[in-house]
Amino acid sequence: MKVEHYERIWFWLASALIAGFVVAVVLSSTLHAIRPPSHVETIDPGLVRSGSDFASPRVERRADGSVLVVGVAEMFSFRPAEITVPAGRPVTFRLTSPDVIHGFQIAGTNVNVAIIPGYVSQLTVRFDRPGEYLIACNEFCGLGHHLMQGRLRVEGEMR
Ligand code: CUA
Repeated sequence: MKVEHYERIWFWLASALIAGFVVAVVLSSTLHAIRPPSHVETIDPGLVRSGSDFASPRVERRADGSVLVVGVAEMFSFRPAEITVPAGRPVTFRLTSPDVIHGFQIAGTNVNVAIIPGYVSQLTVRFDRPGEYLIACNEFCGLGHHLMQGRLRVEGEMR
């Protein structure tokens, strides 16, 4: 079968483009741990403030040293607003919203999730560098959007 000269050029150009996209996906997922959400769990937004586990936002330290954060993002605050976790331990965030879409981004880390009413956003991360981190809402959610922030404190291992 005869392949035209220009057809061959376009074939290789298209192949190189696709290979480039695949490399970008592989690098961002392996080097930067950027991944699509993998947890799907629904919740009635009307039950978030009372009648669900989210009625009492909290930071729970489990016996095995891991941490569970049950949090609510709402107009215009995060609850709990201050989260303290130990460094080097798995921290599982379970987050939802009773009103509109919010963002939950921890500056300087790869934590960046959308908080969507009706859904529970869940992710597990490990923070290796002790320090204070800003938690910001990065989805415009109304007039107080810019006021919506929290703080994450990562404490060094205590022995
Ligand atoms: Cu919440 Cu912007």
